[in-house]
This record gives sequence, structure tokens and C-alpha cells, in this order.
Amino acid sequence: MKRIVWLTDIHLNFVESAIVDQLLAEINAESPDAVLIGGDIGESRDVAEYLSRIANRVAKPIYFVLGNHDFYRSSIPVVRDAMRDLCGEHDRLCYLTHSEPIALTSSIGLVGHDGWADGRSGDYENSDVFLSDYALIAELAGHYEVDRRPMLNQLGDEAASHIRDVLPTALERFEHVFLLTHVPPMRDACWHEGQVSDDNWAPHFVCQMMGSTILEIMRDRPDRKLTVLCGHTHGAGETRPLDNVHIITGGAVYGGPAITRILEI
Ligand SMILES: [Fe+2]
Repeated sequence: MKRIVWLTDIHLNFVESAIVDQLLAEINAESPDAVLIGGDIGESRDVAEYLSRIANRVAKPIYFVLGNHDFYRSSIPVVRDAMRDLCGEHDRLCYLTHSEPIALTSSIGLVGHDGWADGRSGDYENSDVFLSDYALIAELAGHYEVDRRPMLNQLGDEAASHIRDVLPTALERFEHVFLLTHVPPMRDACWHEGQVSDDNWAPHFVCQMMGSTILEIMRDRPDRKLTVLCGHTHGAGETRPLDNVHIITGGAVYGGPAITRILEI
């Protein structure tokens, strides 16, 4: 039996240093074998610093993906490249967006990708939602909604393409695979205050291309099991779109970073 600590949407830039230390102490008190972090750790200027701090205090492998906030005030390729350098410096840090499948145990594997809300779920054209992403991330800023849509589509496609590369390989090797991502891969996993997102919010909260890719792959593997761990909406909920697919969305509160769940595998 292994103990895995999963955290999502910890937004450490919203809290004082003492609260970060307290969270790290709580993680260590669980004596985890590994830690999973599902993105929205900080912003571009401090995400590497927070990850280093976690890696220096928690002497176990740390597998992570990034969330939309982690790119704020920079650009997506710049921050993703910085993560490559960071993981080169810290043996225990692994950015799943750039990684091959990982063995958590001999029968349980791990894959992941940041994901991105790709504008495909709900009603993008009539949505009046304007996320800070569209002002604070270089690629997405300064465009009209109509021009931003293909960019969101492409970010979703990139996430799905990585999953198409790593998930079938992982399913060959492992009976049960965990997929760590930031953005819910389908609307039924997009929880907010006990409800799934409506047509107005869903375009900005669902990575639909990743979801359809997951379902396509898992339909062909009824002998295997997939558990998706996601966040982004800050609302907790669970859904089972197929007998062999379980999606858990982690809740979160700004200013109160906490362990989302302990997984005993
Ligand atoms: Fe987020």
C-alpha cells in the first residue's frame, strides 16, 4: 500500500509564508510516498520558487502539472520551458506535461498534462465570461473573442495529443492509471457549488478534446481502469462517464491551501 497526497489549486501566492510552511508540515505529517499537485500553484514569477520549496521540504517524488494561473504575467511556452529547467535541477520534481508514464506501483501508473479549457463545451459565442487568462497570459491577451477561440482549441488539442501519446502506453503496462490534470476534461466533471457548469461557463472550464480522447481510448480498454484527478473550478465532485473511468474534481478555497485527498493505492 502506498500513500499519495494530492493537492490542487493551492494558489500559494495568496497566502503568507507561514501558511505555506504549515501546508508543507501537513503534507509531511501524512508520510506520503509521493505528492501530486494539479496546478494553480502560484503565478509565473513564483511557481518555480514554490515548487523548489516543496521539493526541498518534502523528500518524496513530486509529480505536478500547471494551471492557468501559473502562466499569469508570462507566456505558456516560456513557463513550460522553465519547468523543464527546474526539473533538471531537482531530481524529485517531475512535470507530467513533459513526461512519459510513471510507475507509482508495479500495477499503477501515472500520466498527466496541464490541459486547457478549449472553448468547445457550452456556448462560446454567447458567453460573457472573461477570464483573467485573457488579459494576463501573453498569447491570449489583446485578441477579440473570435480570434482567441482557435488558440483555445489548439491548447486543448495539444493536451489531448499528449494524452494520446502516453495513455495507451501506460495502459499496456499498468492495470490502473491515474491521470493528473488541471482542467476538467468534460462538462460532467466541471463542478461549481454542487452543479455542473452552464453554457456560459463551460467553454472556459472544460478541456473537451482531452475528454473525448480519454473516452475513445478507455472504450477500447474495458480491462483497464482510469482515475482522472482535476481541479480548476474549486468545486468538488465526482463522475463516472464509463464503467472504467472515474473523474474526481478537487475543491479549493483561495487563501486556504489544503490537501485535497489522500489516495491509498
Ligand atoms: Fe485554474
